[in-house]
Amino acid sequence: MTERERIRELYGKGQLPPEEYAPLIDERNPEEAEYLFSLARERCHAVFGDEVYLRAIIEFSNYCASDCNYCGIRRSNGKAERYRMSREAILTCAGRAHSFGFRTVVLQSGEDPAYSDEEICGIVRDIRREFPEMAVTLSIGEKSRESYQRYYDAGADRYLLRHETASFSLYKRLKPANQLLENRIRCLLDLKSIGYQVGAGMMLGAPYQQTDDLVQDLLFLRQLQPEMIGIGPFIPHKDTPFRDFPAGTVELTLFMLGVLRLMFPEALIPATTALGTLDPKGREKGILAGANVIMPNVSPVENRGKYLLYDGKICTGEDAAMCSACMERRMAAIGRTISRSRGDAPGWEKKDRAAGC
Ligand code: SAM
Ligand code: FES
Repeated sequence: MTERERIRELYGKGQLPPEEYAPLIDERNPEEAEYLFSLARERCHAVFGDEVYLRAIIEFSNYCASDCNYCGIRRSNGKAERYRMSREAILTCAGRAHSFGFRTVVLQSGEDPAYSDEEICGIVRDIRREFPEMAVTLSIGEKSRESYQRYYDAGADRYLLRHETASFSLYKRLKPANQLLENRIRCLLDLKSIGYQVGAGMMLGAPYQQTDDLVQDLLFLRQLQPEMIGIGPFIPHKDTPFRDFPAGTVELTLFMLGVLRLMFPEALIPATTALGTLDPKGREKGILAGANVIMPNVSPVENRGKYLLYDGKICTGEDAAMCSACMERRMAAIGRTISRSRGDAPGWEKKDRAAGC
């Protein structure tokens, strides 16, 4: 058996150690990628069948205290037109998502200190009370363990916090000096131990990223065992320090989606909006490479064009109803059905929560 055949056999069984993925990534070619995707689809189908889960994302504030070098809503971007949604507006938006059949709402924002823990808990409780069958996912950045516990006790089920990169040196180049990878990891471990379904992930083709950094990501993810893994290509934003770097590629993103599906057969893995931004069929290709989640934007149309993390972001015009119908059509065209369930991670059960917030 050649070295190549040995590697193929091991990754086919999901048994290739992350440190051995480097040659596979470096020497990938279209034929190898197709083989990987066919294995990834098989693995995904064995766990989830043909169903794709929808998550309604509400981008409720684009204020951010942080200053990530890649991000269009970073604090130093004085050109970003800022907005914040009220508790009532968020609830109305969640209600619309519910009426279109969404059973998960993702509340995402910059690191916005204007929302106190009480307010976040109040928003989570409102949604859970009005729509008990709907899961609430938070994606509001780095917080203390106590805050995470309070949101969980208020009814939040899941938390998305991409680790961005597991390489300490690359992290320093992507983030402001006062932000440490140690704290990001601390957050993810706290979220895990509290009982959340946790989402981590990284950008692909981020400036300065090397294959070894991706291997670090795979090693980190293997240790963390997140229930959700969000990856997407880096796309430059014209008003950030990374404006002149090239975007990551759809091709590498798809390849890594396939790799991740083989390593994590039970994970919920979205085909992201960034993928759809670089390629009109990017999300369909993502699903066919091993992803099983789509996250349509249901934010009010007047805010959508302001949550601009990168240039050219798609779906900034449509209404939530359109997004839902559009996704249904797109998934049907590739032989997938949209699940109307909450779509929790297999085997996940909420740990008891304390009373109140
Ligand atoms: N503040 C929260 C956080 O930091 O987790 C959530 C919002 S943050 C904007 C959501 C994700 O957008 C980040 O984790 C990052 O991976 C992604 N993102 C930001 N800028 C991007 C860019 N230029 N290209 C691709 N993805 C980007
Ligand atoms: Fe804060 Fe991007 S820098 S969300």
